[in-house]
Amino acid sequence: MSMDGDLIAIVNRLQDTFNHIGGDALDLPQIVVVGSQSSGKSSVLETIVGRDFLPRGQGIVTRRPLVLQLIHTPASGAVPSNGNADGYLPNFDAKDPAAGAGIMRPGGSRMGGGMGSGGAEYAEFLHLNRRFTDFEEIRKEIEAETYRVAGQNKGVSKLPINLKIYGPGVLNLTLVDLPGLTKVPVGDQPTDIERQIKSLVLDYISKPNSVILAVSPANVDLANSDSLKLARSVDPRGLRTLGVLTKLDLMDAGTNALDILTGRTYPLKLGFVGVVNRSQQDIMSDVPMEDARRKEEEFFKGHPVYRNLAHRCGTKFLAKTLNGVLMAHIREKLPDMKARLNTLMGQTQQELNAFGDATFLGEQHRGSLILKLMTEFSKDFVSSIDGTSLEIST
Ligand code: GDP
Ligand code: NA
Ligand code: MG
Repeated sequence: MSMDGDLIAIVNRLQDTFNHIGGDALDLPQIVVVGSQSSGKSSVLETIVGRDFLPRGQGIVTRRPLVLQLIHTPASGAVPSNGNADGYLPNFDAKDPAAGAGIMRPGGSRMGGGMGSGGAEYAEFLHLNRRFTDFEEIRKEIEAETYRVAGQNKGVSKLPINLKIYGPGVLNLTLVDLPGLTKVPVGDQPTDIERQIKSLVLDYISKPNSVILAVSPANVDLANSDSLKLARSVDPRGLRTLGVLTKLDLMDAGTNALDILTGRTYPLKLGFVGVVNRSQQDIMSDVPMEDARRKEEEFFKGHPVYRNLAHRCGTKFLAKTLNGVLMAHIREKLPDMKARLNTLMGQTQQELNAFGDATFLGEQHRGSLILKLMTEFSKDFVSSIDGTSLEIST
């Protein structure tokens, strides 16, 4: 399968096609990040999105689920009128250095701390009637809204924070950041905090349509990984679980994670990807995302053990892998979509026959529109998904 296809373009074409003919097209998996507290979940999610905007740090920082919807808008910046925001894909173009790993692609301009003007990106929270164009402000609002509902003292709430980010460089996709799995209650946490967080996480990952990013820190024995345990309980064959091994830079001298990264320790169909996120020191000194990505790359390329594996490590490769997972999903859905299109064609043809073709030019146009869309639809996939047998008979 080609990894180079522009997912944003492909998915938007698809979505357009189905918007024209009605019905929701593409129910893409939602990506859910799971792991123990401070394993690096928020850091991973943030680098996948390619923007600095999530509160992260030592201890319990994420105390409410964050449901992040990326919503593609045409370059003009207009919001799609159908309101169908669910399920598209990110642009994981690993060749675009400015995007970090990038589900989001800056509109050609450097963003600094904000979203920049060229990209026409903006964000909205469900709980606020206001547009944000500065990612630093988004982070502050997430923090404030966390405090508002989950209190000042380490409490955790099931109530999600809903954030939508709109932009022309964004692929429609939902990502979920979750509070970390924990065992010992602290602060205002109830005595059964472990059970409560587990049940919260299960709410999200038990949906068959979710891809589980099971995060485990490399400096803790994988046998104790809560994320893998929980992921296995809902995905026993490991079909929709992608292992993410963080903190490779923090392993004890003389140890390495080669066996995990090569799949010898724990079998997952989608495998394990090792990453190095920003350290607490990096966060405190505001190391930019691009610098962090560069450092990460250097870490793998310069490491005596990971050197040979470097092309399969790091945040960019994680993004690429996710890209592949989503492409595979589209491919799996294609036969269904094709069937729906064919049905529609048949119906339209029947209508046309019933009406006769002299007077109902409007209907006829509809027929030819569908034909045109179908042709485009098939062309898209023959060219972009390297697909061999995807022709639609028109
Ligand atoms: P979460 O609680 O799972 O969401 O984890 P965070 O993303 O908030 O990260 C927790 C802490 O671990 C922060 O201080 C991060 O800087 C640090 N951290 C996360 N990933 C890495 C990593 O790969 N290497 C290093 N050195 N620190 C990391
Ligand atoms: Na944390
Ligand atoms: Mg977090």
